[in-house]
Amino acid sequence: MCATIIPEKYMHYPVLLNEIVSIISPQYGGTFIDCTFGQGGYSSKILEFPNTKIIALDRDTDTFKKASELKKKFTNRFIYKNLKFSQLTNLKLKNENIKAIIFDLGFSYSQIKDLNKGLSFHSKGELNMKMGLNDFSASDVINKLSEKELEKIFKFFGEEKESKKIAKNIILERNKKKINTENLVQIIEKAKKKKNYKTHSATKVFQALRIFVNKEISELIYGLINATKALKEGGIIAIVSFHSLEDKIIKYFFKSLSEEKSISRYMPKRTSNKKYLNVVIKKPILPSTKEVSENIPSRSAKLRYAIKKCNFYNFETDILDKFNYLLEIENYSNNL
Ligand SMILES: C[S@@+](CC[C@H](N)C(=O)[O-])C[C@H]1O[C@@H](n2cnc3c(N)ncnc32)[C@H](O)[C@@H]1O
Repeated sequence: MCATIIPEKYMHYPVLLNEIVSIISPQYGGTFIDCTFGQGGYSSKILEFPNTKIIALDRDTDTFKKASELKKKFTNRFIYKNLKFSQLTNLKLKNENIKAIIFDLGFSYSQIKDLNKGLSFHSKGELNMKMGLNDFSASDVINKLSEKELEKIFKFFGEEKESKKIAKNIILERNKKKINTENLVQIIEKAKKKKNYKTHSATKVFQALRIFVNKEISELIYGLINATKALKEGGIIAIVSFHSLEDKIIKYFFKSLSEEKSISRYMPKRTSNKKYLNVVIKKPILPSTKEVSENIPSRSAKLRYAIKKCNFYNFETDILDKFNYLLEIENYSNNL
């Protein structure tokens, strides 16, 4: 997530960068995985420290340019892969001692400013929202899924109060013509009579569609599981999130793997008493007032981290059951 106040076209402000650095301490060297390379803000900072190595991932091929600049500068210390972070296990990391795996979720300033990607309600024409390595677009979702499916996507992925009305109006409108970005914004504005002057009427529906199109729920869940597998004892997972749904999943994952007792009274008590993760600070770390004033969208950022307690590879987690109601919604894409 990046600031709309940044004047330069492709400038990105890496969020909570100093806090990330103080958690992962690159000054002592080591190998780090940057799961969301973006404009390379985190990777570049870490590479400033000698004896560090970065393995960077990003699903968006528009990050190639920045990645090749870093590759030229740090030939032996920088590796880049165009992969989704749910595919971390494709990296074959069993023999690597990874010091930390970092995630900065969501989209970058250059992605939201790229109107062809259609992430913003200021975009024009065909709906898109694909960040990279996608199977379908927002146009497919809006023009093909059923009223009930659309309603649930807006309600659960966007917490949109008018989800029912918006879904109904989409169906009425698409019986007349194919819906594009401008049409969708108009439908939402019409359905939402009460204006909120702080946020655009379409913010929640656009967030919901972006999450659905990019399968962000399963990406996050499998990203967390596979990152935990990839680390050895002492390895750190640090993750910056931007909305409550993401934070809820991260918080649950860290909490459930750092407690010896089962945290759900409906789940059987774990057989092993072993704590898998150590969560040093229970509350999320937030950006300073100075950072928020310099980069307004950082105000919704939350940073959580956990340290792996032992050298296990496989581990028990009920995260897939816990968030199955969201994964089931994500699976509506099978109907496309
Ligand atoms: C907020 S930006 C990261 C910015 C970066 N930390 C920096 O300082 O330049 C998020 C990036 O993550 C990428 N991304 C989002 N979801 C992803 C996923 N599931 N797998 C890989 N990359 C992803 C996006 O394409 C975007 O480039």
